[in-house]
Amino acid sequence: MGWPRMPPNSLGRSPDCGRVVAYADCGRGSGTLWQARLYTNEAPRPEGRGFKMMEPGRIGGLPTPIDRGRVEAATPLRIGVLVSGRGSNLRALLEAFPVGHPLVHIGLVVTNRSGCGAIEYAREAAIPVEIVSGSDYASRDAQQAAMAARLAAAESDLVVLAGYDQVLGPSLLEPYAGRMINIHPSLLPAFGGTLHAQAAALRHGVKVTGCTVHFVTPEIDGGPIIAQEVVPIRDEDTVESLSLRILAQEHVILPRVVALIAAGKVRVEGRRVRVD
Ligand code: GRF
Repeated sequence: MGWPRMPPNSLGRSPDCGRVVAYADCGRGSGTLWQARLYTNEAPRPEGRGFKMMEPGRIGGLPTPIDRGRVEAATPLRIGVLVSGRGSNLRALLEAFPVGHPLVHIGLVVTNRSGCGAIEYAREAAIPVEIVSGSDYASRDAQQAAMAARLAAAESDLVVLAGYDQVLGPSLLEPYAGRMINIHPSLLPAFGGTLHAQAAALRHGVKVTGCTVHFVTPEIDGGPIIAQEVVPIRDEDTVESLSLRILAQEHVILPRVVALIAAGKVRVEGRRVRVD
């Protein structure tokens, strides 16, 4: 689908500009404003003083990342990951961005499920985990406000939903508008709004399905699409076999999208997302 293929160990490099030597002005503590910039070892370009910048834009009526000024030092993009389940996408992120990675720092994992498998992956990697259970809060909104507070305390620039199973309300959506992405196991907009998208695709009889990484907006699974990967459906497929093949692609595109955002290569034009 025209998506650049890059091995994980090339994530710190840009295919067109050379080595990334410094990037990411993240605007810590500044609400919705952040900007990743890409410096290169090329001679400075007259129009860009040697770096490329994302365009300001809007996502579904919400602000998108915008420039906040010149970066002086290399600062990795800090991400917070929200999880509810087995955590294989979290594991893929942890493998792509181990502690000390120059482009992305996984600062916090937040979960609403105290027994979920994802917690183990985070602990093995020595990443802080916050368990924010619904039973400890009077409402879902209060629970999500507590999550937002923890993500802010960890200075998260970008929030990644990696198998998070709750619908999000304004307490999380608003502070992270334009700074939150989700992975969904179908080719959106087909089979959105369900936790059983693989079964829905099989039931419907489509011949191809896949996975989508998109920005999160109030419309469930409806935000601007950043990346998709196609997975053909075989006659003999079961929900399990299809889910496994989709999952393998999820583990590729989610870290790739995070790396591209960190490198300042993702910009939004209305509903369309451009990857430079
Ligand atoms: C994945 O299929 C993802 O697309 C969906 O939830 C599942 C999470 O799996 N949003 P895991 O917990 O990352 O293994």
